[in-house]
Amino acid sequence: MIEEFKEAVNKGLSAKNKNLPSKYFYDKKGDALFVEIMNLPEYYLTRAEYEIFKNQTLKIITSLNLKKDTYFELIELGAGDGTKTKELLKLLDKEAYDFDYFPIDFSQNALDNLDKTLQTEIPSLSVKTKQGDYFKVLESFKDSKHQKVILFLGSNIGNMTDDIANVFLQNLSASLALGDQLFLGVDLIKAKDIVLTAYNDSKGITAAFNLNLLNRINTELKGNFAINTFKHLPEYDEIEGIAKSFLVSTKDQDVFVEALNKSFHFYKDEKIHLEVSRKYNDDIINSIIAKTKFKISDKLTDSNNYFSNYILKIV
Ligand code: TRP
Repeated sequence: MIEEFKEAVNKGLSAKNKNLPSKYFYDKKGDALFVEIMNLPEYYLTRAEYEIFKNQTLKIITSLNLKKDTYFELIELGAGDGTKTKELLKLLDKEAYDFDYFPIDFSQNALDNLDKTLQTEIPSLSVKTKQGDYFKVLESFKDSKHQKVILFLGSNIGNMTDDIANVFLQNLSASLALGDQLFLGVDLIKAKDIVLTAYNDSKGITAAFNLNLLNRINTELKGNFAINTFKHLPEYDEIEGIAKSFLVSTKDQDVFVEALNKSFHFYKDEKIHLEVSRKYNDDIINSIIAKTKFKISDKLTDSNNYFSNYILKIV
């Protein structure tokens, strides 16, 4: 892991357009800051998707065409703390639908916590946690002939470029069978001021979250980044519909990373690109599923028209 991190940092900071992969955001401190982001008033995404789960629970069930007498596997990619999913689980459980819930996450810690809360809040629910990489875990479902519903929420697909999302959906589609469904949560293309404030909150939590990556380089790779000489800068292009986050060097400077025995030069105002958060509409969804067996079968949207859950069905 540390070797991989070292290599990624070397590659990213040596590139003409400097970049650092966002998967390294998530150390212990990063995880905690991320939870704080999800609860920020400016971060509308969580609330918008929660509203759909809370107010349109029955509609979710009917749109997925779930039947009480047909067993299905409900599989969630990156389950987190399950706040939104719980609304759906409660109703499915109360109405005696025949299913198992399989939360998949990379973090065993997140899974243990989720398992514990679900046992207390919905004792009759069958929860089968699976730790690991999404596709490795999905492999283990290959022999099951049961109908599957995959949940992939939080606009997490938006952190992939369209090309990568395309490959991701091709792989996912290949591991599913006719009639299986993907319930995909995506943030919608909207006005710049709304999007930008979500990625640049007034308390500076998102800034701290991004800057934490430099802290990690300092502690894990013995770097000497002066954190206060870098500023968090999100950008959003309304036409393109992509939010991008950067760290910008506020001065001309060299940074030494001992584990790499290498210095990196930063010009004043030079940017390090960290992440994309793509926003969607029907056309973009259709383009990222073009090479898959998925077709849009339905869509649920929150009352502000900020966020949609698409139902993509294997046909
Ligand atoms: N996928 C969500 C989004 O793009 C959550 C997220 C991922 C996020 N990385 C982030 C939110 C960085 C804020 C900052 O919005």
